[in-house]
Amino acid sequence: MQLAEVREGLEGVVVANSSMSWIDGENGVLIYQGYNIHDLAEKSTFEEVIFLLWNGRLPTQAEFDDYFKRLSDERQLNDQEWDFVRRYANSQVHPMAFLRTAVSFLAHSDPDVEDNSHEANVRKGFRLTGKMAVMVAAFDRIRNGKEPLQAKPEWNHAKNFLWMLKGREPDELEARAMDVALILHADHGFNASTFAARVTAATLSDLHSAITSAVGTLKGPLHGGANTRVMQMLLEIGEVERAEQWVLDALARKERIMGFGHRVYRTMDPRAVHLRELSKKLCERIGETKWYEMSEKIFEVVHREKGLWPNVDFFSASTYYAMGIPLDLYTPIFAMSRVVGWVGHCLEQYAHNRLIRPRANYVGPKGLQYVPIDQRT
Ligand SMILES: CC(C)(COP(=O)(O)OP(=O)(O)OC[C@H]1O[C@@H](n2cnc3c(N)ncnc32)[C@H](O)[C@@H]1OP(=O)(O)O)[C@@H](O)C(=O)NCCC(=O)NCCS
Repeated sequence: MQLAEVREGLEGVVVANSSMSWIDGENGVLIYQGYNIHDLAEKSTFEEVIFLLWNGRLPTQAEFDDYFKRLSDERQLNDQEWDFVRRYANSQVHPMAFLRTAVSFLAHSDPDVEDNSHEANVRKGFRLTGKMAVMVAAFDRIRNGKEPLQAKPEWNHAKNFLWMLKGREPDELEARAMDVALILHADHGFNASTFAARVTAATLSDLHSAITSAVGTLKGPLHGGANTRVMQMLLEIGEVERAEQWVLDALARKERIMGFGHRVYRTMDPRAVHLRELSKKLCERIGETKWYEMSEKIFEVVHREKGLWPNVDFFSASTYYAMGIPLDLYTPIFAMSRVVGWVGHCLEQYAHNRLIRPRANYVGPKGLQYVPIDQRT
């Protein structure tokens, strides 16, 4: 059979129908289930977006209240899960590697683990979303010698995460910034981690296996791992005045500037619009505007020199930094939000499944003669 041309990185290849989210990369448009990301970032909440992505429509008040409570009920761990967090929080394991193993570990106590029905997968989706946030916050507290904190049922997911992480009630700006960050990261078409989740789900493996694949895929620096690296870059540059030369030197060495470029967008990532504003507000709030100003300078130079635009990871770095969040938690926070998109995509995949199994263009030798090992030179 004659195979089609190789499309490296599957660029431009359409592999499924989906109503989860749509990107117009030329015009910088992102929609979730029909709703523009700008509307959702300005007017919605993470809990509402969970309902939207798992049901394809916005909830009524009663449905919203039900989702709010179901998520709240899952913001707790059993004894084995606490033992697991305590064991790894005090090791040298990176929180993203911890989270990958944690998602897999959560399968062992999930009563629905091998049930692939829609209802069971929604139940597992709530458990994963609730428990991942608890685990990330607890991991950080325990490694800093602090006791983990109980979530508060009356607060939303974003506010609870900041509370469980820092041990003080976040103010309105911080809580809303986290809520907006969770909304913005929840889904993004067939990005690498979502595709990994769908490939796993398409073998009819269980949801925890699919989400474990996704977390491992998100971890890489070309995907979700970029946000931490952006902040490492800002810290290395140190002062706004050094930013231009630093970027020019890095580009001259043919290095990639983290937080720039995208497979789909050819203009400003619409998510970056909101994170840029949040970065400005939050840096002003702590009186350290240099991280925001440095980000703007880097944007100006990278855009001028390479025509590249910032992606979601660029301004989220200084936003999280200004909220006092440790650098190595930026990617786990991405995962805490994107799990909602992964679950929604798996629901879609299970509902219209076909094994995902592409082909490779074989470029190796053929017809070699097998030589026994004792006769090889
Ligand atoms: C996101 C990313 C992986 C997309 O990759 P892609 O679609 O495969 O694009 P390519 O790697 O083929 O890059 C196309 C060109 O732009 C350049 N480029 C892309 N992103 C760049 C960046 N961040 N810094 C410098 N140059 C970049 C490449 O060097 C390449 O140039 P060339 O054609 O002269 O070789 C890529 O832009 C990147 O590595 N960005 C930095 C990591 C990042 O921020 N990831 C988060 C994504 S949300």
